[in-house]
Amino acid sequence: MKRTQVAIIGAGPSGLLLGQLLHLAGIDAVIIERKSADYVLSRIRAGVLEQGTVDVLTRAGVGGRLKAEGLVHDGFALAWQGTSHRIDLSRLLAGRHVTVYGQTEVTRDLMEARASAGLTTVYEADEVAIHDFDGARPRVTWAKGGVAHELGCDFIAGCDGYHGVSRASVPVSAIQTFEKVYPFGWLGILADVPPVSHELIYANHARGFALCSMRSATRSRYYVQCDIDDKAAAWSDERFWDELRLRLDPAAAEALVTGPSIEKSVAPLRSFVAEPLRFGRLFLVGDAAHIVPPTGAKGLNLAVGDVHYLATALIARYGENSDAGIDAYSATALARIWKAERFSWWMTSIMHRFPQDGAFGQRMQIAELDYLFSSEAAQTALAENYVGLPY
Ligand code: FAD
Ligand code: PHB
Repeated sequence: MKRTQVAIIGAGPSGLLLGQLLHLAGIDAVIIERKSADYVLSRIRAGVLEQGTVDVLTRAGVGGRLKAEGLVHDGFALAWQGTSHRIDLSRLLAGRHVTVYGQTEVTRDLMEARASAGLTTVYEADEVAIHDFDGARPRVTWAKGGVAHELGCDFIAGCDGYHGVSRASVPVSAIQTFEKVYPFGWLGILADVPPVSHELIYANHARGFALCSMRSATRSRYYVQCDIDDKAAAWSDERFWDELRLRLDPAAAEALVTGPSIEKSVAPLRSFVAEPLRFGRLFLVGDAAHIVPPTGAKGLNLAVGDVHYLATALIARYGENSDAGIDAYSATALARIWKAERFSWWMTSIMHRFPQDGAFGQRMQIAELDYLFSSEAAQTALAENYVGLPY
């Protein structure tokens, strides 16, 4: 049986970043991914990186293109009742900011670093299964091209997303889950048109939420709140642009440049946390352990936080023979995760339409927004969470 020190399940941003940090510390890891590299790169997802995320990626040696091509954003707009209110991150937080750089690009940079270091990633692995993680000798098995494979390891990092095999392999009696499913989705499109504004616009409108984001000066990413069972195919490009324009403040609606979409998909909105994050020699990381609704732009950033904690813990385990970090991983990561869950839930609740919440819910939302726009303290709290809480 082949052996490695850490078997990583999943080659999304969590798995690839963990692999890279371990490699830099001289720890051997193999990544096992069920899809192809092209498929992983074709998923259009996150766009906003916290400063802490940029710092970890830079430490991982993949900060070059991010620094050259990432767009530094010092603020963003919240549009409500026809008016746009700017949240000035840099002024409220003494120069702090976020960086707009697509998850696709983060993933590409990590894949390239891994390939140039000659490290092993097994793509298109079928029937991935994890075994014996409650004992001293965990194993991972999979099939590829009809051939069965087995890998022995010291630890397994479950970086395989919400639908992965890692969390599903934990006995039900050992894990507790917390979940809230929102009664709507986000319909997103990507288009090669210039962004409507140089900063992001989050809009709360009577027709539903809308978000104007971007990937570059020539590529825009836009979203509208849609019905939970809406299908992307039911939305022509024209219907999408018309709906988006209706939800924007007049100046943004006027400035909107439209064009053919190059991607269109519906994402459900969910808050989810699994506890704990460690089961013997198995650790859950990123979306395998928790999901946030995308409103606060926290999902990828939280995954990077988990990876930072786990990589530090494993490096201490191998370097100093200390178990303190791996023993603390679950509690340390969960303390930060729950705060990001709270922020994402709150930002979702103030920016979307919740018809089933009735007139009282509606009035609460108005009071929240009214307070936010009149209070520098409230804006600072929003800004502090948006740019990311410390590790
Ligand atoms: P994933 O990216 O899900 O990667 C898991 C990998 O594991 C995948 O490659 C999968 O194929 C693989 N896998 C699954 N099952 C198995 C198996 N059985 N065996 C082997 N491999 C397996 N986050 C932000 O921070 N900011 C944003 O602006 C933002 N916007 C978003 C917008 C949208 C529309 C969506 C959907 C998400 C957004 N997110 C955002 C969230 C972010 O994309 C995720 O949090 C992030 O992808 C998590 O990374 P991960 O590596 O943990 O999981
Ligand atoms: C994105 O650019 O895809 C994006 C930006 C901000 C969010 C969510 C998604 O809150």
